[in-house]
Amino acid sequence: MDLADLEDVTSLADQLGYPSSTEEIRTRFMRIQRTQNYGLFVAKSNGGKVIGYVQINCEPETLLAGPRADVAALIVDANERGKGIGAALLRQAEHWAEQNKLPLIRIRSNIKRTDAHRFYQNKGYVINKSSHILTKSIA
Ligand SMILES: CC(C)(COP(=O)(O)OP(=O)(O)OC[C@H]1O[C@@H](n2cnc3c(N)ncnc32)[C@H](O)[C@@H]1OP(=O)(O)O)[C@@H](O)C(=O)NCCC(=O)NCCS
Repeated sequence: MDLADLEDVTSLADQLGYPSSTEEIRTRFMRIQRTQNYGLFVAKSNGGKVIGYVQINCEPETLLAGPRADVAALIVDANERGKGIGAALLRQAEHWAEQNKLPLIRIRSNIKRTDAHRFYQNKGYVINKSSHILTKSIA
């Protein structure tokens, strides 16, 4: 992924349920590039439009678990699904994890996304547990 892709990524983020402006996404992209161990990969149409992307991050080691990779986002444009694009993006993310010697990939997925769960299970992922995510705004 590079800067020129971010306008298309804005519309994909919206489809995923995380609406942001292109400017906000650009600011995060620049920060991520500087500070994190991450993989960001796009799928493009023949015309050069971004029709899917995946972000995978290296999760820092904790006392309870060794290092692992975390799929932060995977989305394919609604008009392009069912063509193998999601599978290709996931393969690319897995390749990134292998290259970075991360032995486990974790995906947190909203309980509502039953189609996506089928897709992941089909690709060898198992539902390990279901959790609540608690947040508190301190700003
Ligand atoms: C989940 C998602 C990334 C999968 O991408 P995709 O490009 O549609 O998936 P693929 O075409 O690679 O594979 C989908 C599988 O479902 C089947 N499928 C058939 N028609 C399909 C359709 N209309 N939509 C989705 N999958 C379909 C495919 O045959 C394939 O099965 P197979 O691996 O046994 O051949 C995509 O559906 C998506 O963006 N969903 C909304 C966002 C989302 O939920 N993301 C996950 C967040 S955790």
